[in-house]
Amino acid sequence: MKTRLTDLLGIRYPVIQASMAWITDAVLAAAVSKAGGLGTIGPNSGFKTVTSDAKETGERLREQIRKCKALTDSPFAVNFVVGVPGWDRDYSDYCVEVGLDEGVPVAIVSQGSAQVYTQRFKEAGTRVVQVCSTVRHAMKSQEAGVDAVIVSGTEGGGHSGFDQLTTLSLVPQAVDAVGIPVVAGGGIVDSRGLMAALALGAEGVYMGTRFMATRECPAHDNVKQALLAATDVSTIAVRHGSPVPVRNPEAGNRGFVEERRGSVRLIYTDFLREVLAEKGGTISMEDALAGRKGDEPSPESNRTVAAFVDGRVQENTITASQASGLIRDVPTCEELIRRLVQEASPIAHRLKTIVG
Ligand SMILES: Cc1cc2nc3c(=O)[nH]c(=O)nc-3n(C[C@H](O)[C@H](O)[C@H](O)COP(=O)(O)O)c2cc1C
Repeated sequence: MKTRLTDLLGIRYPVIQASMAWITDAVLAAAVSKAGGLGTIGPNSGFKTVTSDAKETGERLREQIRKCKALTDSPFAVNFVVGVPGWDRDYSDYCVEVGLDEGVPVAIVSQGSAQVYTQRFKEAGTRVVQVCSTVRHAMKSQEAGVDAVIVSGTEGGGHSGFDQLTTLSLVPQAVDAVGIPVVAGGGIVDSRGLMAALALGAEGVYMGTRFMATRECPAHDNVKQALLAATDVSTIAVRHGSPVPVRNPEAGNRGFVEERRGSVRLIYTDFLREVLAEKGGTISMEDALAGRKGDEPSPESNRTVAAFVDGRVQENTITASQASGLIRDVPTCEELIRRLVQEASPIAHRLKTIVG
């Protein structure tokens, strides 16, 4: 399979494994890259405890980058989450320095403006792919000089934009608006999703939740079982309580709303059901993620770690795709990518018989 994205990144198949923080470590990223896709190392990956030290965060990342390089010669990516000045910018600044030091081949930059780091990466010869949730964000990222954009719809696991655009609506509008390759994310878990994305004009896919249910993913088995048990109605998207939760002095309020965390999609767990019942069925992201006072898992942990790493899924919150109901097994990354590619031909054939 060949698109401008495969040429740009030097990969065989237009499949990028999305960043999923703690559970996208060097082993997973290397397995995806070896299989012909692009693996991505996520923030804090490979570790089991929370740190509030920016330097330690960066050094943990360095360890993962070196491990990935030792496991594969194929290109791989690192996710850099752009911090807000005065809040968490020191984390992203340090991580970017580490990424530049280590010569990472591809930077996947998310939850912030492309203006912050693109130039530095480009000067170092790093390919830059920006994660966007609106057409405007994609256009601004192109102006800032990124090589490609990922546009990710609200179907996806993790944080997505405040406007909650769906992948089906967002991808073709972004394709029409920018000239650089567009990668489709959100709700894509199989070859049907891949082919649909290509039909919308995307040149690759960005898949998170599907790679969570792989053998190499370090997520606890309870998390993988929760995905296997999921149906079409197993997730809910919750928004920040207020439309402008934190000011971003560089981007202005509107910039924050468009470019940072607007909503998060969570799978129903016992904990989430309890909070929903307490809050009368309408909850904000703050309600869902903060939990009740005095109910934090431990000082070294947080709800994400407790669920994804320790496997205490039902007492916490986990984020996952609206398409989780399509996940029925836990293959290796190699098996998954082979399947994505092999099942594309019969789909193309079927479409040809319809279209003529
Ligand atoms: C468990 C989990 C953790 C995530 N963590 C991150 C992250 O650290 N950085 C980021 O930019 N996106 C993160 N995301 C979003 C994904 O990178 C991606 O946009 C999303 O998974 C795509 O949709 P899909 O899950 O339907 O494939 C996360 C998603 C999940 C499911």
